[in-house]
Amino acid sequence: MANETQHVRLRGLSHVFTDGREPLHVLDDVSMDVPHGQFTSIIGPSGCGKSTLLRIVGGLLAPSAGSVRIDGAPPRDAQRRHDIGIVFQEPALLPWRTVAGNVRLPLEIDGARRRGTEAESLLNLVGLSEFRDYYPHQLSGGMAQRVAIARALAVDPTLLLMDEPFGALDEITRTAMRYELLRIWASQAKAAARKTVLFVTHSITEAIVMSDRIIVINGRPGRVVADTAVELPRPRTQEIERSAPFLDYADHLRGLLDGAAA
Ligand SMILES: Nc1ncnc2c1ncn2[C@@H]1O[C@H](COP(=O)(O)OP(=O)(O)OP(=O)(O)O)[C@@H](O)[C@H]1O
Ligand SMILES: [Mg+2]
Repeated sequence: MANETQHVRLRGLSHVFTDGREPLHVLDDVSMDVPHGQFTSIIGPSGCGKSTLLRIVGGLLAPSAGSVRIDGAPPRDAQRRHDIGIVFQEPALLPWRTVAGNVRLPLEIDGARRRGTEAESLLNLVGLSEFRDYYPHQLSGGMAQRVAIARALAVDPTLLLMDEPFGALDEITRTAMRYELLRIWASQAKAAARKTVLFVTHSITEAIVMSDRIIVINGRPGRVVADTAVELPRPRTQEIERSAPFLDYADHLRGLLDGAAA
């Protein structure tokens, strides 16, 4: 088998939106291999095509050209097997369902015919057990986003796609959430293999703190302009943000983004 070690394989991916007044070329010749269990961030200025790329990987959008393989198969197959979990910028919870009801939703839709993690243990994982009977309007932004993460994990996907999941949160909550997600990611590794994460962010700090690897997309159409391994020890704590190697990575990335991202 050719793709045994590669979880996600993109080859010559290009996308042109044709539904506007003029065709809009958003992504050009994007190729990458992401091995199982890697935490990869995708960073780039607004409009460079990051969300478009994630939607293509998740099988929500067909690319104009190029190929996507998840474990050697098209993303639709992976979706059907519930191998992909997606977290968007907004938590998009169902307002008439409780916290536990929202987390259980993917399992109910699936008719509980496959593997899945109990809602209780997921709520425990994201620290919301006490709030299981709350409704979304009774939650803070950070809590709602933790529910969305628990929901994405409910079907126990092997691949987690996260599109600026903390983008709508204030700086303090956001900082806490990134370490929270790292903890969740590491705790999942005990059960089986660690999940592969593709994480879109605007934040250089967030990308360095969390990732094994950072892919920089820039330009219009967006192209991969850099692919950098982050060789900082894990587990990572907030102190790392003041370390010399961290600041070197940040300088390097800032240069690549040419002041376009914060
Ligand atoms: N469904 C669509 N139809 C037409 N154009 C689209 C569509 N979705 C996105 N675009 C355009 O494609 C470009 C890239 O959008 P995309 O959302 O992928 O950018 P992004 O890198 O995620 O930006 P941001 O960081 O602001 O979220 C933008 O110019 C956007 O207007
Ligand atoms: Mg986006």
